[in-house]
Amino acid sequence: MQITSFEDYKKQYQKSVEQPELFWSEIAQHFTWHKPWEKVVEWDFKIPAVKWFIKAALNITENCIDRHLKDNANKTAFIFEPNNPNEDAQKITYAQLSEQVNKLANALKKMGIKKNDKVCIYLPMIPDAIYAMLACARIGAIHTVVFGGFSAKSLTDRINDCECKLVITSDGSYRGSKTIPMKDTVDEALQYCKSVAHVLVTKRTGQSINMLNSRDIYWDTIVPQQSNTCAPEYVDSEHPLFILYTSGSTGKPKGVVHTTGGYMVYTAYTFLNVFQFKHSNIFWCTADIGWVTGHSYVVYAPLLNAATSVVFEGTPAYPNPSRFWQIIDKHNVSHFYTAPTAIRSLMSSGLDYITPYKLNSIQVLGSVGEPINEEAWHWYNKHVGKERCPIVDTWWQTETGGIMISPIAAITPTKPGYATLPLPGIQPILVDEKGNELYGSNIEGNLCIKFPWPGMIRTTYGDHERCRTTYFATYANLYFTGDGCKRDKDNYYRITGRVDDVINVSGHRIGTAELESAINTHPSIVESAVVAFPHDIKGQGIYAYCVVLESNRQKYEQITKEILKTITKEIGPIAKPDKIQLVTNLPKTRSGKIMRRILRKIAEGEISNLGDTSTLLDPLIVNEIIAGRK
Ligand code: PRX
Repeated sequence: MQITSFEDYKKQYQKSVEQPELFWSEIAQHFTWHKPWEKVVEWDFKIPAVKWFIKAALNITENCIDRHLKDNANKTAFIFEPNNPNEDAQKITYAQLSEQVNKLANALKKMGIKKNDKVCIYLPMIPDAIYAMLACARIGAIHTVVFGGFSAKSLTDRINDCECKLVITSDGSYRGSKTIPMKDTVDEALQYCKSVAHVLVTKRTGQSINMLNSRDIYWDTIVPQQSNTCAPEYVDSEHPLFILYTSGSTGKPKGVVHTTGGYMVYTAYTFLNVFQFKHSNIFWCTADIGWVTGHSYVVYAPLLNAATSVVFEGTPAYPNPSRFWQIIDKHNVSHFYTAPTAIRSLMSSGLDYITPYKLNSIQVLGSVGEPINEEAWHWYNKHVGKERCPIVDTWWQTETGGIMISPIAAITPTKPGYATLPLPGIQPILVDEKGNELYGSNIEGNLCIKFPWPGMIRTTYGDHERCRTTYFATYANLYFTGDGCKRDKDNYYRITGRVDDVINVSGHRIGTAELESAINTHPSIVESAVVAFPHDIKGQGIYAYCVVLESNRQKYEQITKEILKTITKEIGPIAKPDKIQLVTNLPKTRSGKIMRRILRKIAEGEISNLGDTSTLLDPLIVNEIIAGRK
């Protein structure tokens, strides 16, 4: 399964295009299937309908855990590094993982959870979060993990959208110097959720919380008592493994559905190849399990490869910006996978925080979530990789399940800022606005994929039509990524960023429509328009233009504070705008369409080059907005 040279990569790539069924079936044979597939793939992007490893049956946890117990029972699966550096790290072997997952799976059953039921996981980055995901998969329940930074309102929306029966949470969580009241947020969210019968609460901070007698159950009163064995529930290859909500350019976040067999094969394969993972390596992906990177490269892919990986509860700058480097030295991390925003923020803290650390265990560095600017790439290369480690700039999305375009570590020659070449099985094409394929090199267009891959999105939960219109209707017979992309003279791909109304803040997607509707709930706001602007640390910052009621125009301080509060309540603190400008109107065409192009330019500070403003209903508004620019 592992690519051994650049020549081999090219050979594998060609095979994957010419004989995709043979290519993927050979890879899939490395896994444990309860029942083999009858056909490798069936697909029709028009509907869309995509199926992989048809009629096969399996349980992904058997592949993540049980099959490793013969040879690797005592191998460390996870090294848990707590938020507080003075608290001991904890090593969890595959045997212990098995025990914990099986016990929890039995506890879930006891609480009435069955195959197909949805379970919401709202937990910090602690081992229990991983046990929770795997315990769901063990019994065929479908997990939906909600990032701990989302508000009660966001949690309510997600729980209701997929009608979760159970929520698994903790009393509180530690993040840097803060203690966050997770259970209180769940209590608030559940006031509006009818489907939830129980809340399973693990103790992390020991803070006092309310427990509702008939609904809430402490983990330690039900899980440890259960049996160590729970027979895996075999599910169809296309049985949903999880639902993960992500923002788009319109409406509320949608639940991206990933299924079992294809996701397993794809994430495991990409991990093994992109990182050139070897059995003795120590892998560390810094993503939170609330995002797809955490699902695929903290939980599933490393376990599928019997890896040892670090799970870190805290943040990069607590207690100081040496924390990442200290952890790398402490645990001899060989593969380090993080986001450009973290690199930029640590870069801005100065070299004093990194130079005392040896970092000589590092072999491969990875980047994910947003374009990595050249300055950050060089800093990462020089100061973390000591100019001896390949950097894999991995492009992919929540919808793709796993890495799509990326160098293969130490095999693909890299270029700063380039995700380089597609992995075997991935057929990217660039198209113009009309969907015509752009051939050759040195071109720029919209990035689409023309053939299915096993880890791809199957539907958006409860609304298949939305999946079709978002990803498969823009261009006929193509999956549209929403990203712009360049292909250079070496046929290397460079992702240039979103071409839709999605903002990528610190590697997290935030839809402008979602932000605007949150802002518009404020009683003094008539209307708003949100755009992105370049931000030194976050990659993109959020700039909100808010039309405010005339009577309130003088109350800038108060209203901006309230807007920030509103967004924190409606979405969560991660979506807070960096800049808020109160305006009397927005630049609109005569037909009432907001000219975002102009607002984007003003936010970027490119005011000398606004283009044609003569078609605006009120061209003078542009001067007012420029004058009040933040
Ligand atoms: O715009 C691309 C950007 O992040 C988007 C996907 O966001 P999300 O679904 O939250 O998943 C993030 C982690 C996989 C993409 O549409 N993106 C992701 N990785 C890169 C990237 N942009 C440039 N280079 C990357 N390596």
